[in-house]
Amino acid sequence: MDARLAAYRAAAREGRDPTCCAETLALLIATAREMGAREILEIGAGEGLTSIALFSETGAKVTAIERDKERAATARARIAEFGADVRLLEGEAGELLPRLTGPYDLIFLDAAKVQYRRFYPEVKRLLPPGGVLFSDDVLLFRAGVPKKRKMLAQHLAEFLGTLTGDMDFSTKIYPYGDGVAVSKKRKNDHIPPHFAE
Ligand SMILES: C[S@@+](CC[C@H](N)C(=O)[O-])C[C@H]1O[C@@H](n2cnc3c(N)ncnc32)[C@H](O)[C@@H]1O
Repeated sequence: MDARLAAYRAAAREGRDPTCCAETLALLIATAREMGAREILEIGAGEGLTSIALFSETGAKVTAIERDKERAATARARIAEFGADVRLLEGEAGELLPRLTGPYDLIFLDAAKVQYRRFYPEVKRLLPPGGVLFSDDVLLFRAGVPKKRKMLAQHLAEFLGTLTGDMDFSTKIYPYGDGVAVSKKRKNDHIPPHFAE
């Protein structure tokens, strides 16, 4: 990885709403390469560092959504600095997602965790069969739930339940960072197990 990007990543790992951890980024890149992803969507782009890395390491076209004005401005500056083919959409993902047509081979969901469930139908619509969804921080409360985070923990648990129970996806959870769920959209209509002899 480019040394400047690595330095930006190191600084962004220290801040609030940090960039994804090294293992998750490596898995994102390896998955995108292996599947030959041409179009990638990142929801919750922060300073754009993961989008830039995905573009530089895979050559895929990246679309990134970020609602925070300051972060979006930093992301725009970084994207220009690295000459990355990243289309930054500034705004609320809940409003922007329904307007996208996709499809995106790979989607990285890394916005406010409380909204994962709400975004799920749109995210699912935007993925083609064989497409892959990365949902970051799904094990955020594996060490216990602080009193003030009970609602968030409930939202995350419901999201994870929906995702792992969705027969249109096959999901594996990795313990990297605060946990990342990797869900591959099945290519064929699911055949209920009692019919599949
Ligand atoms: C953990 S940071 C993203 C880090 C980034 N994915 C990376 O790996 O570098 C989460 C970001 O999502 C943004 N965000 C949260 N909820 C959002 C929403 N509903 N729509 C758009 N952006 C959102 C926040 O402003 C924040 O910058």
